[in-house]
Amino acid sequence: MGIVDEDVAKVKAATDFVQIASEHIALRKSGRRWQGLCPFHAEKTPSFSINAEEGLYYCFGCQASGDIIKFVREVDHLDFVEAVERLAARAGIQLRYDDAAEGKDRTRRTRLIEAMEKAVDWYHDRLLSSADAAAARGYLRSRGYDGDVVRRFKIGWAPDDWDALCKALHLPEDVLKDTGLGFMNRRGRQQDSFRARIMFPIFDPSGKPVAFGGRILPGADGPKYKNSPETPIYSKSRTLYALNWAKDDVVRAGEVVVCEGYTDVIGFFGADVPRAVATCGTALAEEHFRTLKNFARRIVLAYDADAAGQAAAERFYEWERRYEVDVAVAALPPGQDPGDVARTDPPALQKAVAEAKPFLAFRVERVLGKAALGAPEGRARAAEAAMAVVAEHPNELVRDQYLMQVADRCRIDPDRLREFLDPTRKRARPAPSGPSTPRPRRSDTPEIEALRLAIHRPEAVADVLVELLFEDDLHRSAFVALASSSTLAEAIERADAAAAELLHRLAVEDTDAEADDVVALLVSAAAQRVLRQLEADARAAPELSPELSPITGWLKLTIEQTREPLTRVEASKGLVAWLVENSQGVA
Ligand code: GTP
Ligand code: MN
Repeated sequence: MGIVDEDVAKVKAATDFVQIASEHIALRKSGRRWQGLCPFHAEKTPSFSINAEEGLYYCFGCQASGDIIKFVREVDHLDFVEAVERLAARAGIQLRYDDAAEGKDRTRRTRLIEAMEKAVDWYHDRLLSSADAAAARGYLRSRGYDGDVVRRFKIGWAPDDWDALCKALHLPEDVLKDTGLGFMNRRGRQQDSFRARIMFPIFDPSGKPVAFGGRILPGADGPKYKNSPETPIYSKSRTLYALNWAKDDVVRAGEVVVCEGYTDVIGFFGADVPRAVATCGTALAEEHFRTLKNFARRIVLAYDADAAGQAAAERFYEWERRYEVDVAVAALPPGQDPGDVARTDPPALQKAVAEAKPFLAFRVERVLGKAALGAPEGRARAAEAAMAVVAEHPNELVRDQYLMQVADRCRIDPDRLREFLDPTRKRARPAPSGPSTPRPRRSDTPEIEALRLAIHRPEAVADVLVELLFEDDLHRSAFVALASSSTLAEAIERADAAAAELLHRLAVEDTDAEADDVVALLVSAAAQRVLRQLEADARAAPELSPELSPITGWLKLTIEQTREPLTRVEASKGLVAWLVENSQGVA
């Protein structure tokens, strides 16, 4: 059931964010903001900040951000309706529910989740009690899964039958298809998707079932695993198996262990490392990182050694930087996955996580470990191969330290190795372009200052700021969202994920900047870009265009005037007007 929008707004308005947050963390007033230790990641110095007037929070450490409802959802692990209900109860507000207000998607999602919940229970009961599940129970016992494990992970059994689930649950056709639980067969009858498989239900972080992974019994025909398809409630590149169970320990430890399979996760839990999750039959994707960085700063890959070695290194470095997480690798015995190790030597799993090495160290070690370092030729080859790995890392200071290690191990002069880091030797990297390109953290560029002003003192910049002044894609889309909305909250809703995150951050950052200064800097930078372009065009043209020199002359002069206190405001306005007028021609 949905809550009517008006009531949600009432609850927000009636709730004191600082008071609620104070029940979870100690807050201190700093300027107009409140600060404290972030409840969403482990830290020793406060990076969590609340803008009480706007009712927004942002963490400079883990980039967690949102409003009071999101805050309550995340700290108390509730869904939206539960969170609003809790706040309403405190504020003494009587909520009205309205299915129409829910919007189609939410109703649909609820229907699909309810069907999944029924399926989870039904498969689970079958495994626990039905006669045809005896072989499955025997197999699970042989893997060391007792009743507690089966119940903890809600493991189930899909019987060896065409339509046992369909008959039992009587799901409408669209729900059956949209959950991936079944389909209409050629005779127009409902048929189960999973048959004769051990069922691992996959939950979203709040504990709602969204998919299944089904494992075959040994000896049977077919692929080892069959996983639910992508559905309106299940995205493979976002979902992490077991995050619902692992998240508390992940937050506590500031670390998450990422495995490849359901049974690896269960192995970790059995070995007393209850902070393991798994991707569900896909490679670790950027969306996974985005999810995980809200819970922990450190991601420990627990893949078998070959899989970890083949992981897409450059993308990982990029995500490490973009999401400010560290990726480490737990060294497992060759050819074994965590599920195997859990069975034979659980303490070894704990140790592998505790001693996990940075991703680059692991990769360098793999190269050097295989090399014949006893002979000069072997050392030379190893050094070259290791430096190729080191060269992929984007940070020069990091590269340099590994270079020294390689030099030591291979007994080669570091200066000779340095040439392997020469960019002209390096393999081509994907060009940094497009809106999702990682950007170095920059705090005080005129673009950022302008955005801060647009948020905190909109009246000071309203008539001069225009979209084309922003060169940076991210800044521009944040500005566009602001400019096309009447409130900050609306802008955040309208913005894409990255821009929304930026707006959240800026909402908790004060600015003392002088609006006219910021505008002048921003405008002159934009005008200079155009000027450079015009000059380049002029040089490339076969003959001098007669109109050009007065224009470039005027631009230069007016740009100069943006630097003079007396002419700054007029000059900025003039340039903005000119830029807007001529934006088509120079875009
Ligand atoms: P156990 O052998 O039962 O311990 O499972 P495992 O997780 O060790 O299996 P494996 O390492 O082979 O696979 C890891 C993950 O890849 C699984 O959890 C599945 O999500 C996925 N996977 C494995 N085999 C298949 C398959 O045949 N088809 C599909 N679609 N996915 C698979
Ligand atoms: Mn396994």
